Amino acid sequence: MIDLKSKPYLFWKSQLDKIQNILLKNYQMNLYDAQNLRTLAAAILKLSDHYQSTQDKLKITDWSDKKNQMAYLAYFHFLNLQRSRRVFTQADQFNFFQGVELVLDFGSGLGAGSYDWKGEKFFFDWPTAHRLHQQIADDVPSPDHWRSQDLDLSDFLALKQKKSVLGIFSFSLVEMKSWPEWIFNLDKIIFIEPSVQNISRDLMALRQTLIENSFQVVAPCVHQEACPMLTYSKKDWCHDRLDTFQPDWFKALETVLPIKNQTLTLSYLAVQKKMVTQKESQSTGGNARVVSDWLPEKGKSRLMICQNQHRQFLSALKRNSEINIEFKRGQLIQLDDSLDFMKTSAEIRVERTDQVKEIIANNGVSDGN
Ligand SMILES: C[S@@+](CC[C@H](N)C(=O)[O-])C[C@H]1O[C@@H](n2cnc3c(N)ncnc32)[C@H](O)[C@@H]1O
Repeated sequence: MIDLKSKPYLFWKSQLDKIQNILLKNYQMNLYDAQNLRTLAAAILKLSDHYQSTQDKLKITDWSDKKNQMAYLAYFHFLNLQRSRRVFTQADQFNFFQGVELVLDFGSGLGAGSYDWKGEKFFFDWPTAHRLHQQIADDVPSPDHWRSQDLDLSDFLALKQKKSVLGIFSFSLVEMKSWPEWIFNLDKIIFIEPSVQNISRDLMALRQTLIENSFQVVAPCVHQEACPMLTYSKKDWCHDRLDTFQPDWFKALETVLPIKNQTLTLSYLAVQKKMVTQKESQSTGGNARVVSDWLPEKGKSRLMICQNQHRQFLSALKRNSEINIEFKRGQLIQLDDSLDFMKTSAEIRVERTDQVKEIIANNGVSDGN
């Protein structure tokens, strides 16, 4: 029920065409007109400032504001489509979607979080968001699949209890005071959150609560032990980065925006009810997740990796010019058994290129053209 092989741009094209038509018809915004682009850019910047603001912890999207509608349609929705495809691609490496019968997209907005799911799905959001979503949706069978109700979804879940339900929260937890209790009734959950220190650290703390409530983390973590970034640092936050796919209209928009999105960041979790024993789940062997960009230092380069509860770095000496390891944040890698962890420096020193292998090459958007 997922189709991650199709080229993203072609996959989203009908939706993006509809968005352009709606912008033109309902908001008189032509993405190819310089003056219109500036007006749109101002709306995007205002909403972006609201999301970035440190004043309110909750970043509520005011859908009743026409400028916000415009900004979300033209910009935020498109970026979140790319983020959720990245998460789907990573989770799919572990057959995460196998057995899922129904998707519940909570705080669905325009449906970016669950766009890659092509099976039955229900969208939960407020009526204005629904109305906008309905105009661009090309994969929703009937209006019955939209729900405008608040947090208590117990009745809905009871109705669906015979089905295996995947809950998706894409940038919606950030609008809520806390996660709803009913999340523990879901079989699988995907959370996608902005990569912002305090928000991402809240997600890392939620990870621990989920593990204590019979869930196991499928991605990005390769282990179920305590999160080392949470344990050993007060500042670190786990986040991923992907290369952004930019069609021409998006590039034009960025020329009038102070924000540039050559790459996109996000924090995420894909979890499921524990299916294997703890012993089996640790059988990922030498797998590790790259959790930083390269950190150049005197005489060497370091890259933070996550493999277990310890804070660890992969390091390569600069004088060793034979080493060519070009890993990027978010990638899954495999470490050779011959490598040693040096406790004092928290480093795993790589001497040869073949000691570390990349496991996942596809970042989900790289083949967009
Ligand atoms: C930033 S938007 C994200 C939209 C979409 N999921 C995406 O990834 O682009 C957050 C959404 O959560 C919705 N939301 C927040 N609290 C909600 C609640 N209690 N019930 C339903 N929707 C809610 C908002 O209306 C908004 O559409």
